[in-house]
Amino acid sequence: MAEFNIVRFLDLAGGVKTDDLDWDLCARIGISDVEERVLRYMGDTESHTILYMRDLLAGHSTRDPEITAFLSAWVYEELCHGRAISKVLEKVGRPDESDRYTKVTAGSSAREFIEAALSHAAAYLSPRFIAVHMTWGAINEATAAAAYQIMEQNTANPVLATLINRMARQERRHFSFYWHQAEKRMKDDRAARALVNFAIRRFWTLVGSGVGGDDNLAFVSAHLFPDAESRQLLVKAEASIRELPGMEWFDMLTAQSQAKADAWVARHGPARYVTNHDQARAAGVVSA
Ligand SMILES: [Fe+2]
Ligand SMILES: [Fe+2]
Repeated sequence: MAEFNIVRFLDLAGGVKTDDLDWDLCARIGISDVEERVLRYMGDTESHTILYMRDLLAGHSTRDPEITAFLSAWVYEELCHGRAISKVLEKVGRPDESDRYTKVTAGSSAREFIEAALSHAAAYLSPRFIAVHMTWGAINEATAAAAYQIMEQNTANPVLATLINRMARQERRHFSFYWHQAEKRMKDDRAARALVNFAIRRFWTLVGSGVGGDDNLAFVSAHLFPDAESRQLLVKAEASIRELPGMEWFDMLTAQSQAKADAWVARHGPARYVTNHDQARAAGVVSA
């Protein structure tokens, strides 16, 4: 795993660029209903990053200058991902409702609230709890990068593909930070490894499951990762987590997403990624 350099990260940090994209072309090709629902889920998760940061920035982590510097830039980059997704939805004529943020926040599950409170309190108890947050962050960033990558490969809208590629690159930089922090904190600390193992096994769930809603999560899992080939990206993401000390057992990412996808298919029938190939051809774009 390539080293992470916080100075370089901060030098490169910033909102994902959207002003140079061909928004007319994006609107002409548009997006499918499947893409709309997936993007809405991703956008909700991205826009609520500040709430995750509230839980991360607690107790001992507030005294670590590298963590506080990273989180300052990270939360802004994630907010900009949410704004960029909202911009896509607006340009293709499927805008968010004006009070979406408030509605989604109000709809967060009770489980989410309780876990946040517990996680916040535990962060004061032991500096080892940072390792839990860092491992958690690494899993979620790797998952987000895989989800964006599969969309980039499948969408017929080249403007969306470019934007998603930019966001996925930032997710991979975020992943690198969390992964290296987790590794550093676990490699010579058996108690930290035990704490991480317990917390992940007991509490970890797929990113966005609290704010995005269970039905939407099942939809996203089923449509982004419908077959063995697409699931290879999740297998790869999971393998990167298994390289962390004490995490060799980790299989929850593929297990949970498979379970969600299966639950969707059982309720609604087979799922597949649908995109606007015809509109792309009409606009003279060679489809993905
Ligand atoms: Fe993001
Ligand atoms: Fe991220």
